[in-house]
Amino acid sequence: MRVIVTGGAGFIGSAVVRHLVLDKGYEVLNIDKLTYAGTLSSLASLDNQANHRFLQADICDRNAIQEAFDTFRPDRVMHLAAESHVDRSITGAADFVQTNVIGSFTMLESARAYWNTLAGDAKAAFRFLHVSTDEVYGSLGENGLFTETTPYDPSSPYSASKAASDHLAKAWTRTYGLPVVVSNCSNNYGPYHFPEKLIPLVILNALHGKSLPIYGSGSNIRDWLYVEDHARALDLIAERGAIGETYNVGGRNERRNVDVVTRICELMDKFRPQGKPHSQLIEYVADRPGHDARYAIDATRLETELGWKALENFDTGIEKTVRWYLDNEWWWQPLRDGYDGRRLGLLQGEVPKKS
Ligand code: NAD
Ligand code: TYD
Repeated sequence: MRVIVTGGAGFIGSAVVRHLVLDKGYEVLNIDKLTYAGTLSSLASLDNQANHRFLQADICDRNAIQEAFDTFRPDRVMHLAAESHVDRSITGAADFVQTNVIGSFTMLESARAYWNTLAGDAKAAFRFLHVSTDEVYGSLGENGLFTETTPYDPSSPYSASKAASDHLAKAWTRTYGLPVVVSNCSNNYGPYHFPEKLIPLVILNALHGKSLPIYGSGSNIRDWLYVEDHARALDLIAERGAIGETYNVGGRNERRNVDVVTRICELMDKFRPQGKPHSQLIEYVADRPGHDARYAIDATRLETELGWKALENFDTGIEKTVRWYLDNEWWWQPLRDGYDGRRLGLLQGEVPKKS
């Protein structure tokens, strides 16, 4: 099995690459631009693996991507490369439109040109997995779950750019017959997560005695999935997902942000008692513009049709994650030197009210 993975130096992409290379023994071509969010240190465990190749390239670069397809000749593509942080999208949407929309378009067009050169079984077996987010569905109220048929209603420049790329991916099946499958996943957490996102930011700020910023009231809800459960789900969807279809991925682990932060503080009290109580560092700060109230995934289709099951729940996964950050300063210190945890994504002046 020969797989092109894009974004494989990022958080989820590196978990996917480690899974495919080490657990599945696949031949992987990992294509990544190495933006601020990508680091080869996340792939250090693959240093001696002959079945992992890395190509530094921009997914918007049609020539480089086409050449990668034509020389590597993949059976499968797993497209994860993206600008991924909502706060950065609020103050700088251009990179999100460029990479998430134009880059995905470039990936689809390069895949289509390559796929058109295939014949017989190779053409029939080829798959393009487009990896997306549950944020395309917008915000839930107190009840209900996102299903595969929930209408798209994105709130942020990030989720709008991902929604645009999902529509392109679906259209490439309907119009050109390209065998695309789409996955929409809830919030991931775990090792190698860039420390601008809530969970790693709070762990490192707590370790350093810095304030733990909670946006708004802290009652916003996210549905947390351990990253390695997502990586296994993506491999399964790429292997067995039906062409032109969507699969929602989520671990049925809804938590309010304030409860996530409080749990991390309790674990830090246990592992680093000298900083006790870490909850004294919690600070309520100005809300994020366009902040979605609640995300929650119904993963029934993935569980029943493809037989996937999350192996971690939030309690086991968050404890593993806190321990991993405490044990792996070598990984996060260089990233923290480049980004010190300062607040991102605030507009000048008043925060717009949600309608
Ligand atoms: P990340 O920001 O950690 O990693 C993104 C990777 O893409 C980085 O290695 C970066 O260098 C690379 N990249 C960015 N622009 C590129 C370009 N123009 N060309 C080539 N490479 C480029 O992101 P992540 O959290 O690992 O997310 C991966 C994918 O999963 C994204 O498509 C994201 O939308 C989706 N997703 C993320 C979550 C989540 O909770 N993080 C949940 C659901 C879906
Ligand atoms: P984040 O990790 O940025 O993921 P996403 O916006 O894709 O869900 O944020 C998770 C939640 O935590 C979200 O509701 C915003 C909130 N948040 C904070 O309260 N404080 C923070 O410092 C950050 C980064 C996020």
